[in-house]
Amino acid sequence: MSETKKKTFAVLTSGGDAPGMNAAVRSVVRTALHKGHSVYGIFHGYEGLMEDHMDELQERSVSNIINRGGTILYTARSKEFMTEEGQKKAAATCKLLGLVVIGGDGSFRGAQKLSALGIPTIGIPGTIDNDIASTEYTIGFDTALNTAVQSIDKLRDTSQSHDRCSVVEVMGRNAGHLALYAGLATGAVATLIPERPFDLDRDVVDRMKATMTTGKHHFIVVVAEGVGNSKDMCYYIEQRTGVETRLTVLGHVQRGGNATAMERVYASAMGYRAIELLEEGVGSRIVGVKENRIYDIDIDEALAMKKDINELFYKVAREISI
Ligand code: ADP
Ligand code: F6P
Repeated sequence: MSETKKKTFAVLTSGGDAPGMNAAVRSVVRTALHKGHSVYGIFHGYEGLMEDHMDELQERSVSNIINRGGTILYTARSKEFMTEEGQKKAAATCKLLGLVVIGGDGSFRGAQKLSALGIPTIGIPGTIDNDIASTEYTIGFDTALNTAVQSIDKLRDTSQSHDRCSVVEVMGRNAGHLALYAGLATGAVATLIPERPFDLDRDVVDRMKATMTTGKHHFIVVVAEGVGNSKDMCYYIEQRTGVETRLTVLGHVQRGGNATAMERVYASAMGYRAIELLEEGVGSRIVGVKENRIYDIDIDEALAMKKDINELFYKVAREISI
């Protein structure tokens, strides 16, 4: 590659961290360097962009991180960047750069603003919530799901010994993807998600009573955090069924841990594609997975899309976990 074609790129992670973000950072850095460009890591998301807090990265800067949860670039939720002044300040910092933003829906809205200010920006979906409509998969979802499932398997052991009901609150912000998959994967008698209406008597209490008549004495009920009131639900279930009920809020444990193989593979491929786009001079796009292939889509189009839960998985969970 001739010197004149050499470009400078930057990468940041923003919003809630997610296992696999590091694998994506590594891929962005290694791809850029492999193609003869230079690359900067911006620290603490948009905060670092506004404050010009960045370091040039080399191949060895991203050694030994492909497996690690969290993000070596740190992350932040920035109020200042929500303002027009903050966005202009950030755009001034990176006006000569092509930027890769690894984050969720909110981070992509920030990327959209930077794109509108003329910064070539590419988004890579990184959130455990899997709530980005333009992609079937977001980095972090698979690891968080496996963490939730392993935890619920443990709860099942103790619930069984005590003939109890375990109500397990799973993360996901306003989305129920993580809860739905976790409920299906653990055979929960009921899975409550914000995307579907439910009635506690019909969808939990009556289902538990029906399974009792077939000899079941311990129960898992998965509740997406977006549904709310899991504590009150516990009390209600115990009162109406007579089954001793305990609440477990899985919380931030779902955000940590080594990334699964699946995360590492997709994060590597998405990071590669992001740099290919920037190298071609293309910005304002989101990379994602569609029909199991890596693709990219216009950022405005992506952010206008709505995502629903997997209806088949919802139906299967309801019909067989009884
Ligand atoms: P996530 O990216 O995981 O959805 P957030 O919603 O917290 O996480 O967004 C991360 C950051 O992106 C916010 O702290 C803010 O700085 C920026 N951001 C979110 N929404 C917007 C918006 N509408 N315009 C500009 N920046 C935004
Ligand atoms: O978006 C990821 C997520 O973990 C959500 O599932 C959850 O609602 C939220 O972030 C928690 O945010 P915080 O880390 O600020 O408590």
